Amino acid sequence: MTYVNRTAVVTGGASGIGREIASQLARRGAAVAVADINREGAQEVAAALARDGAKAQAIAVDVSRPEQAGAMIAQAADVFGAVDILVHSAGVGVERSLLDTTPEEWRRIVDIDLSGTFFCCQAAARHMVERAYGRIVTLASTAGVRGGTGRAAYGAAKGGVIALTKVMAVELAPHGITVNALAPGAIETELVARMHSAETRTVYRAGIPLDRYGTPEETAAAALFLASEEARYVTGHVLAVDGGFLAAGVMHRR
Ligand SMILES: NC(=O)c1ccc[n+]([C@@H]2O[C@H](COP(=O)([O-])OP(=O)(O)OC[C@H]3O[C@@H](n4cnc5c(N)ncnc54)[C@H](O)[C@@H]3O)[C@@H](O)[C@H]2O)c1
Repeated sequence: MTYVNRTAVVTGGASGIGREIASQLARRGAAVAVADINREGAQEVAAALARDGAKAQAIAVDVSRPEQAGAMIAQAADVFGAVDILVHSAGVGVERSLLDTTPEEWRRIVDIDLSGTFFCCQAAARHMVERAYGRIVTLASTAGVRGGTGRAAYGAAKGGVIALTKVMAVELAPHGITVNALAPGAIETELVARMHSAETRTVYRAGIPLDRYGTPEETAAAALFLASEEARYVTGHVLAVDGGFLAAGVMHRR
């Protein structure tokens, strides 16, 4: 798969899964806008990509602000001439029980994880419709598919991302735009380092048939497929990258 002559915006590109997606896209020839609320982090990633010979641009954005999401797409289109690919990886997590979740925490997670997805994808779609081409990849989560403790706000937001992804896939199909979601399980990133306690790690791992957490590299590979020209007949799909977590029920380890 090649991304030469393709231009991509990767939100959440300063860290974790987004950073790895930005880097794999750049290595395969795409021009990449690294967009993040962490301006310095985005600049560092963009500078590293540029040192390796890629066309890269850092963009500071708070994805929960619609006007900033619009400005991000406009800036990337201005710098690169167009935006072919949006990978929306910006997100935050919290591990908090239903009974302990405060209204502020609920709103923060829903604002960033769900509304942020809507604002960024809508802005990208408006641009892509004009060009009758686009690849949009959202970041859902296995928490948006299955229940689990400590995921009231996060799981609800990610479930919303899945529903939104399917609606976008249907509405944008006539415009040559595909929209798919990744549903990562437990992936070793800064987010998980913050969110998963030692106890969570033990309990989580017991439910993963492949018996380990995944890596940003493994997650990015799936994102690159969905963002590729070759995935042109795949839309409205939720691709789990989870070591078998969603497939599993009762498990004996032998
Ligand atoms: N790591 C996992 O196990 C896992 C599992 C399932 C889903 N996900 C999802 O994958 C995505 C990436 O997660 P990650 O593990 O790479 O996390 P991460 O914390 O390493 O990276 C997330 C990035 O998003 C940025 N960000 C946060 N709020 C923002 C905002 N309002 N505007 C713009 N940027 C913002 C952060 O600055 C950070 O650079 C998230 O949507 C997350 O929910 C991760």
